[in-house]
Amino acid sequence: MSNIELEDLIELSEHIENEELRKRTQELLEDFHLSNDNFKQGRSRLEKIPCWIGGHHYYEGGLVDHIYSVTELCIKMVENFEDVYDKELDRDSLVSAALLHDLTKQFILDNMEGFKEYSLDHNVWMSCELYSRGFPEKVIEIVADHGGETNEPTPRSDEARILHHADSLDAEMNQSNALSGVEIFGL
Ligand SMILES: [Fe+2]
Ligand SMILES: [Fe+2]
Repeated sequence: MSNIELEDLIELSEHIENEELRKRTQELLEDFHLSNDNFKQGRSRLEKIPCWIGGHHYYEGGLVDHIYSVTELCIKMVENFEDVYDKELDRDSLVSAALLHDLTKQFILDNMEGFKEYSLDHNVWMSCELYSRGFPEKVIEIVADHGGETNEPTPRSDEARILHHADSLDAEMNQSNALSGVEIFGL
């Protein structure tokens, strides 16, 4: 079981200074659904689902744990790199992308039986959804690239690189702990 709640993710979204982007990010967290009604999906239940079946964060609430941890890592990395390398990074886009990057996993989990029909990866689905909702191109690019070298295209911007490494590291940290008694989510 997760200790992280939706409210904790909403709190992290307060790091997004741009009011419109913050509001749009919060709306998606609070009620995620694909805007195209042609695709079947269950009600929004972000706090209940695992990150992936048989993969990392495979327990009830695994997805919110992962999103929280990844977003925190991204915020800390931005602070570090801005400080050490005197870089100016797009923190708003990165925090929005980190909070939203895996939300379409719910859609895929809702459609496991028909998964072959929906053969696109979750980052592609999420990029399409953000495009259809009019999110800034930078947020879409960071989400599209978060799979890193296992996906095409590979991360191109500093912000996409940060999300990719935070995402992979968090998945590995969870899996190295995977047999330590976490509750397995039953589907
Ligand atoms: Fe992902
Ligand atoms: Fe992820």
